[in-house]
Amino acid sequence: MPVPLPSERLEALHSALLAWFARYARDLPWRRTRDPYRILVSEIMLQQTQVERVIPKYHAFLAAFPTLERLAGAPTAEVIRLWAGLGYNRRAVNLQRTARTVVEEHGGDFPREVATLRRLPGVGPYTAGAVACFAFEQDVAFLDTNIRRVLRRVCIGPDDVAGAVRDRELLALGAALVPPGRGWAWNQALIELGALVCTAASPACPRCPLRPDCRAYAARAAADEALVGAMAAGVHPPAARRIAERPSEPYAGSRRWYRGRAIDALRALSPGSALLLAELGLRLKPDYGPADEPWLRGLVADLDRDGLLVFENERVRLP
Ligand code: ADE
Repeated sequence: MPVPLPSERLEALHSALLAWFARYARDLPWRRTRDPYRILVSEIMLQQTQVERVIPKYHAFLAAFPTLERLAGAPTAEVIRLWAGLGYNRRAVNLQRTARTVVEEHGGDFPREVATLRRLPGVGPYTAGAVACFAFEQDVAFLDTNIRRVLRRVCIGPDDVAGAVRDRELLALGAALVPPGRGWAWNQALIELGALVCTAASPACPRCPLRPDCRAYAARAAADEALVGAMAAGVHPPAARRIAERPSEPYAGSRRWYRGRAIDALRALSPGSALLLAELGLRLKPDYGPADEPWLRGLVADLDRDGLLVFENERVRLP
């Protein structure tokens, strides 16, 4: 279990990261607003999609649905259409469900508390924390891929050691690090550091403002020194074994891929139109035949359950 930093080191850590953020942070559109609706849209989009790809989609989405009420009142088909190119279409449906819940159950006022935010459709612990912090400037801690990696390395150690730490422990460590009154900048800075410096594959430690207090860096520096000492003494360590990478599942042809292609096929129709089940089948598989029908019915039933399409009278359409 890591030992907490002494208070003067904690202050140094805060100043170093906040100064780095003030100097190097990207000027991203969702950093210029505190509107919870806009923050929510950005955070949902950013969950599975790269910043560069999100920026134009964020602007287009907000041009079409400038307010929570406009999103709540829109046909779901229109929301799904605008989500084209972002993937994971279920996020679009959940985003609209959240807008409708806030309008219907909270009188259009966004809840501020993490626990209440968590009850909104599709809002997990990360998104609830991000909205509480980035819209309402609360000093809360939360974890996404970037924050998790930075905290693990700084507070625990190198990835092979730190990988086993549980989120609950990491969240407690993260909460103790949030500088009072500076939660907004602190959490944005952790995300930014993870995206620009403390990256997964090739962390740029020489450019990192947290290097003096980073356990992963200290462990790496100690290992390098031991290696240099051993080499100087004529001991040559065995060549490092390459860690076998798990081959990733091919995306094309996966269930998620077919889900995406099915929604793309419905998006391409003129508004209000529908496809016969077999017509959809042929758009997904050029050699679609009767043997594929049970598979297609299963796929369509899942998408219907997720609110991404409507299947009635053997026809499929956007909701
Ligand atoms: N990824 C998730 N949230 C983000 C944010 N606020 N800025 C940049 N990338 C992000």
